[in-house]
Amino acid sequence: MMKAEDNELLVRVGPGTAMGNLFRRFWLPVMLISELSEADGPPVKLRALGENFVAFRDSRGRVGILDAYCTHRRAHLFWGRNEECGIRCAYHGWKFDVDGNCVDLPNAPNGDRIKANMKTRAFPTMERGGMVWAYFGPEELRPEPPEAEVFEAPDSHRHIVKMVAHGNYLQFAEGDIDSSHVSFLHSRLDGKPLPGSRLSTFAFQDRSPRWTVKPTDYGLMLAAQRDAGPDRYSWRINQWLLPFATMVAAPHDSPFITNVRVPIDDENSMQFRIWTHPDRPLNEAERTTANAGVIFPEMIPGTFETAANRSNDYLIDREDQRHQTFTGIQSIPVQDLAVTQEQGPGPIADRSLEKLTMSDIAIVTMRKRLLDTAKALMDGVEPPEASNPHAYRYGSAARRRCRGRDPSDDRPMGRVAGGSRMIPLAWIGLGRIGTPMAERLVSAGYNLTVFDIVPQAMDALVTLGARAAKSPGEAAAGAQAIFFCVSDGEAVESAAFGPDGVASRAPADALLVDHSTTHPELTKAMSRRGEKFDLHWVDAPVSGGILAAKNGDLAAWLGGRPEDADRARPFIAAYARRISYMGLSGSGQVAKSCNQVIVANTIAIWAEMLAYATANGLDPVTLIDTLEGSGADSGVRRTFAKGMANGTFPELSTRNMIKDLTIITDLAHKSAVPMPISSIALEHFKTGIARKDV
Ligand code: FES
Repeated sequence: MMKAEDNELLVRVGPGTAMGNLFRRFWLPVMLISELSEADGPPVKLRALGENFVAFRDSRGRVGILDAYCTHRRAHLFWGRNEECGIRCAYHGWKFDVDGNCVDLPNAPNGDRIKANMKTRAFPTMERGGMVWAYFGPEELRPEPPEAEVFEAPDSHRHIVKMVAHGNYLQFAEGDIDSSHVSFLHSRLDGKPLPGSRLSTFAFQDRSPRWTVKPTDYGLMLAAQRDAGPDRYSWRINQWLLPFATMVAAPHDSPFITNVRVPIDDENSMQFRIWTHPDRPLNEAERTTANAGVIFPEMIPGTFETAANRSNDYLIDREDQRHQTFTGIQSIPVQDLAVTQEQGPGPIADRSLEKLTMSDIAIVTMRKRLLDTAKALMDGVEPPEASNPHAYRYGSAARRRCRGRDPSDDRPMGRVAGGSRMIPLAWIGLGRIGTPMAERLVSAGYNLTVFDIVPQAMDALVTLGARAAKSPGEAAAGAQAIFFCVSDGEAVESAAFGPDGVASRAPADALLVDHSTTHPELTKAMSRRGEKFDLHWVDAPVSGGILAAKNGDLAAWLGGRPEDADRARPFIAAYARRISYMGLSGSGQVAKSCNQVIVANTIAIWAEMLAYATANGLDPVTLIDTLEGSGADSGVRRTFAKGMANGTFPELSTRNMIKDLTIITDLAHKSAVPMPISSIALEHFKTGIARKDV
């Protein structure tokens, strides 16, 4: 049973609420593109997350979403004129562009001078998957959009309908993941699927499925297992994409349903019901099915209300219910509406009154995930899902399995975006950073072959589904992009151009992406060598450490031709959040060396400070904690300081600092830039190795 205060926390979505804040950390679909089809067309009222907005498409085709109320005297901008790249308030003529700037203030003599101060709230927008999306959160936290295939498919692959549901968003989202209701609510009395529903007959023969619920980077994988004969199971696998969408199981080579649920306010929500085939356009038969009134409802023209609705008891046919179908209601989404729009006397279900069973495990798990994420955000922990758009590539699948096989063993689970699963990539170097980076590529669905000079280092990747190669050349054969993450420039050069190296077998036009830290001049030389093999070099050193590699939170600096960097960027996004293009070949390495100037010298100065603090009677370990959040705080404090206070600093890190500072001081010498502090730090690191003081 859920506590009443937790129920309140889950259902309230207005500004400043826990769930409202969580939704405001994600891009949200808020309209159909077709609602704003025309440049300079009529403005549209929009309500989302308990706030009122106005949406319009300006003369240049850009979509603007602004605060509904004019900054002057709060007239609704819906009544305004959409003209010449802005919306002009109907009351006194103030005009605002898509960025919220007041670009004309005609009713005051000093309007031109003061209009800059009259800006209104404007929100970033984009158009994707047939929908207009908006981001309502803090600008500095604006994430990349989720990369789910349903949002990336072209218009020809999709049928989409928007509906308004008059109840709290959560009860509809719970219905989407609740596979056990399918056996009843959407069934016929003769045990056959509803015509055109494309539901499996097994869902109606075994009506008490066993659940596998697996937490994922994007939300939850929810698999319902049903008996499908003496030696087989039927698996119905849904994917819940936190915080707003459920991808519903579908038979092989069939379009699949995605339900996107976005709160209008606490008591109403919008649903985008999307039927998508990820690999091909919908065919004529599928278009006919979509319009047959079963998997999509009949709508009241010009509205987002279903023709069968609460006011007419959803057009329930009691004769049909007696003899044909379980509900007597024709359309599947309307069957859902009938039971979820009123789960209690009001529009918000009171979950403290429920009596749950094992059949509700998926719903309980989803609620807990939302609660935990929202509460963590209240404590200042940002939702990791928002900054991991790559994880959303998973889709849904319905599968039949032999008995004893658990689909949660599969990696990755469900359907993976067709665009990525076919791309062969190679990875050279599985050290402490390289391994989690390569793992994230596999998890993102890429077809990865790996090589490391230590064969056992490849075991973990092979377990995940990667293929092990016996040489860099074997790994590179057929790969569209080959990634290096090795100890130094010499190792890169050997793997790229040595015996049975990458260059000997990589296909023409392949990308070579080097994540190792190497001398920029060596990078340029290797890039030129690569050109002779028709290979394209991108230097892409990274920073952030092992944890950041595991969480996909690295920083990467790219050097090379811009078009090559653009090709590399989607792959690198599997493990790096901040990807910056710095310039032509070697520029990424120069940028990394600038990073290392700060890191290496900060380590050196921490060593000096800790000795000073100890000599003056302070406990260095206590001191380190007191510096959290101060001007002296940095990644070095979090990563190395405690070990240094206890007299240890990793030898490998020391050798890396020597390598990096050697590159830095050499480059400084060649560019005639005095760097005395870095030179002194280099000598200290060398002394540490010489004295075995690490
Ligand atoms: S209220 Fe909008 S211009 Fe006056």
